[in-house]
Amino acid sequence: KNVLFIASEAVPFIKTGGLADVVGSLPKYFNKEEYDVRVMLPKFMCIPWEYREKMVYKTHFYIDLAWRTQYVGVFELEWDGVTFYFIDNEFYFGGPKPYSWIHEDIEKFAFFSKAALSAIPVIGFNPDIIHCHDWQTGLIPVYLKERFSQGEFYSGVKSIMTIHNLKFQGIWDLKKVKDITGLPDEYFAPDKLEAYEDANYLKGGIVYADRVTTVSETYAQEIKTPFYGENLDGLMNARSNCLSGIVNGIDYETYNPETDTNLAANYNQITFRKEKWKNKLALQRELGLKEDKSKFMIGIVSRLTDQKGLDLIAYVMDELCSEDVQLVVLGTGEERYENMFRHFDWKYNDRVSANIYYSEAMSHKIYAACDAFLMPSLFEPCGLSQLMALRYGTVPIVRETGGLKDTVEAYNEYESKGTGFSFANYNAHEMLGIVNYAKDVYYNHKREWNKIVDRGMKADFSWKTSAKKYEELYRSLY
Ligand code: ADP
Ligand code: GLC
Repeated sequence: KNVLFIASEAVPFIKTGGLADVVGSLPKYFNKEEYDVRVMLPKFMCIPWEYREKMVYKTHFYIDLAWRTQYVGVFELEWDGVTFYFIDNEFYFGGPKPYSWIHEDIEKFAFFSKAALSAIPVIGFNPDIIHCHDWQTGLIPVYLKERFSQGEFYSGVKSIMTIHNLKFQGIWDLKKVKDITGLPDEYFAPDKLEAYEDANYLKGGIVYADRVTTVSETYAQEIKTPFYGENLDGLMNARSNCLSGIVNGIDYETYNPETDTNLAANYNQITFRKEKWKNKLALQRELGLKEDKSKFMIGIVSRLTDQKGLDLIAYVMDELCSEDVQLVVLGTGEERYENMFRHFDWKYNDRVSANIYYSEAMSHKIYAACDAFLMPSLFEPCGLSQLMALRYGTVPIVRETGGLKDTVEAYNEYESKGTGFSFANYNAHEMLGIVNYAKDVYYNHKREWNKIVDRGMKADFSWKTSAKKYEELYRSLY
């Protein structure tokens, strides 16, 4: 079977979050004899030149969008054994970042969705399944349905909508979206593309896709409730027969402490006791923290947004940054969180390091150097950072929600079980309590701590298991 992923980002080309990690790595892990999985992306100008220069022009054509006729270029690039197609249009994809204001993105991704479908007949690859990711591709199942109803070549092609984050839905004025998309009026009803009198791309995708998935089982359940449902819990319940959760994996080649060239010292499950601390010392030196290999170092690598539970951290920051702790933060996002971390970096200069920028290399150094990794998310569809932490022998401290609940097993001192620490309620002192518990195990029960690390490094979150589940899902469509 042929499967075409359509998405707005994928590593190594363009990344703003975990979506890119998933779309860029999962296709490599399908059984190649049974599945030919390819990926289609926008040809953003902000994709580094080293990749853009290698893309091969295939063809071009024109489509109508709103009142304009738009150029669609199609480029191709084989990368790491996977074929990627890129949709070119400088008017939409020429900006300095992949996303901008929502009203611009609404038109940008209507264009992308329409162009992507229109490109399929000319690329020489006939997908049996089109696998869409997040709201940016929510219109694809809708357009597919529309073209199918007009007897076009798309008949028989199935679609899947994977929700990586229900919070972002692509919502805009109904009338404007009608004009932009050119879809007939009947699509703009409350049981279709319309939600609360606006147009909603993701809702369209969820309504029209043959299957809907999310990136963990717990999140698939949670989004049927009002707290996590982002106003679509009713729809999620209505579609629950077609809704399932498949937990994400990470690329075990990219994230491998044994071969990672970003590290001061490489290590594996056997050598971590002897080697891992060298990464801590190197990072302390690089970031100007007090050099002390025994200090309990907590890492945070994250988009700095409400989703990630940063208000809990802000609330107890003074207590969190006690003298026996070092905190290393890497992230960008909301200004109030950026400034909060900058402030504490200034206040506790030898134990807090705020790195308010984006850097893959630094993220790897942090995953390797720290003892614990803090991720107290308000909600978390899956979360990849905690998986990276586990892989690098850095013990996750998480809130029990979504994928965090499914991937981190809470430490149980009586049975000597567990791969991390977790707390249930969205409460700053509950979080602080669990951080202090972890700290106590680290300082006073080192053998226990090392066993936690050991179990975490042994846990398998490569794509092997999850790719099989996607294969099963694909099979269920035929
Ligand atoms: P989300 O997709 O919600 O941001 P995930 O945990 O699924 O969360 O994925 C986040 C990804 O982005 C991880 O690969 C993480 O290492 C990376 N990341 C986040 N912020 C930064 C940053 N400032 N620098 C480098 N990598 C980052
Ligand atoms: C989203 C979610 C994150 C998930 C990622 C990849 O960005 O916030 O939890 O891991 O998508 O699926």
